[in-house]
Amino acid sequence: MKQCIAPYKCHLFVCIKSRGGEKKSCGDGGTPDLKAAIKAETKNRGWKGIVRVSESGCLGVCAAGPNIMIYPQKIWLSEVTLEDVPKIIQILEELMVE
Ligand code: FES
Repeated sequence: MKQCIAPYKCHLFVCIKSRGGEKKSCGDGGTPDLKAAIKAETKNRGWKGIVRVSESGCLGVCAAGPNIMIYPQKIWLSEVTLEDVPKIIQILEELMVE
């Protein structure tokens, strides 16, 4: 194993887990579209290699989903919708200047 420093300033984990209606899950809320929208906005801002947007499995708080966590800043976003993408980008912009 090789240990190193994370290469991204911000790494977003977008939970896309779907339980097929068995119980509430992030995948019920169109999270693949959410991930794609965030990724497109980060690309448009030239943040490739700085901000990473990844799909995630269950983050453990399904009832509050769709959930996104941002590391290493430890920011947790719940009940996220596509309409929240501008706010998420604003949060990332603020993190870029820190
Ligand atoms: S399904 Fe997203 S937190 Fe569990």
